[in-house]
Amino acid sequence: MRHFLEIDDLSREEILEVLELSRLVSPPKVLSDCSVGLVFEKPSLRTRNSSESAIFQLGGLPVSMVAGEVGIDSRESAEDVARTLASYHKFIGARVFVHDILTRMAEAVDSVGAAVGVVNLLSDYSHPCQALADLATIQSHFGLREGLKVAFVGDSNNVTRSLSVGCLMMGMEVAVASPKKYWFSGSEREAFQARGSAVFTSDPVEAVSGADVVYTDVWTSMGQEEERDRRIVDFAGFTVDSSLMSNAGRNAIVMHCLPAHEGEEITREVLESPASAVWEQAQNRMHVMRGLFLFMSGVRPRS
Ligand code: CP
Ligand code: NVA
Repeated sequence: MRHFLEIDDLSREEILEVLELSRLVSPPKVLSDCSVGLVFEKPSLRTRNSSESAIFQLGGLPVSMVAGEVGIDSRESAEDVARTLASYHKFIGARVFVHDILTRMAEAVDSVGAAVGVVNLLSDYSHPCQALADLATIQSHFGLREGLKVAFVGDSNNVTRSLSVGCLMMGMEVAVASPKKYWFSGSEREAFQARGSAVFTSDPVEAVSGADVVYTDVWTSMGQEEERDRRIVDFAGFTVDSSLMSNAGRNAIVMHCLPAHEGEEITREVLESPASAVWEQAQNRMHVMRGLFLFMSGVRPRS
């Protein structure tokens, strides 16, 4: 059984298949008589609701658990949690503070030969389910066209990473504007550039200039709350507002994975502007989760 821990755990063609499956109007009930275990070490609105809804739509039972009641690596090891959940569920989804926990859970499942897929519902490192929804949203507006310019303004974080990799896999141009101390490491920037056209800058206007998509996310991610005051100072000038948007392409859309911190990384005016695709993007979280579980269950488009 495959796991989905990073967006590039799927090939370009497989991502396109997941997106196509996401659009199935009457999907097969591949999770009938099955359950899916969803563990959340951090808060979630979209990921939990979209996953649970998608599982229900595929005929399955979602079983969601929050941090305190599971206690990964405190009440018992990540490996023991994964092996136990694998004895009940067809898939395990987990939102974790430390990405390595997901890797350990996947290895533990594999080590006992369980045919159970582990899905990353966000870690400190990446957010691949979000990237699928982002690609679905970009696809619905522009098609996944080579040369489309996607600008990310804000922290170089888990969302930035998965989005950038996914867009580069589709042949798009990526420009990331972060204050220099929040850039990806040199080796990671080189790895992005080896995939395609990736520009890293400290100038939001440069990144946004002529962009088809302008994307932002919170300056302080879950787990970084102690840095919040420092980050508000460091990210001054990185707010996606109407003035910054005036540099984007004429038909540019605005995206945000949400939750948004109004007045920090984005203004309410931009969130509610005609260019905003954020609510469609949030709904796409559910559609792509359906597509992902269909794909991981072996369903292929037109099969
Ligand atoms: N975008 C996203 O993952 O939202 P939640 O944190 O609410 O799940
Ligand atoms: N970067 C944010 C994304 C929330 C969906 C975080 O990790 O908190």
